[in-house]
Amino acid sequence: MNLEQYIAIVPDYPKPGISFKDITPLMNNGDAYKYATDQIVAYAKDKQIDLIVGPEARGFIIGCPVAYSLGIGFAPVRKEGKLPRETVKVSYGLEYGSDVLTIHKDAIQPGQRVLITDDLLATGGTIEATIQLVEQLGGVVAGIAFLIELSYLEGRKKLQGYDIMTLMNY
Ligand code: PRP
Repeated sequence: MNLEQYIAIVPDYPKPGISFKDITPLMNNGDAYKYATDQIVAYAKDKQIDLIVGPEARGFIIGCPVAYSLGIGFAPVRKEGKLPRETVKVSYGLEYGSDVLTIHKDAIQPGQRVLITDDLLATGGTIEATIQLVEQLGGVVAGIAFLIELSYLEGRKKLQGYDIMTLMNY
């Protein structure tokens, strides 16, 4: 399936010069959403994944159906102040801004094999921070799956040594 037809490209959003990749048409189409999910499930199958971890908000949209399909759990990574119990945190740089990401301290058991999911790899800051959170809790990052990679931003450089899959490239 050609998934690119379900990505709406929005120039100068949310700021001038940013070419926003809107995944909502893909989510809106059952066949495309299922196809994309199944591709990530197939990638995860031989990795003995115990848990999916995804950053808000769009990492949830990608990761939760994968977790459901594999019959495993999902742990949310959220911006500071959003998780109600004890967390670990890390600050990170974004394509447009900077922020703090957190995860519940009891979300990952040491040694658990984790698949990280998100919609988009841009500068890699979000996933670099997510990796740090997983590893702080003793999790093993066994793979990272994205719908879209913006290759020209070279986010992969921040993720060297990790196994990455992406379904679309710009
Ligand atoms: C976007 C996107 C990725 C991240 C990619 O999320 O969904 O998570 O930026 O950028 P990076 O590779 O440069 O870190 P955003 O932080 O806008 O949060 P949202 O999904 O809650 O809107």
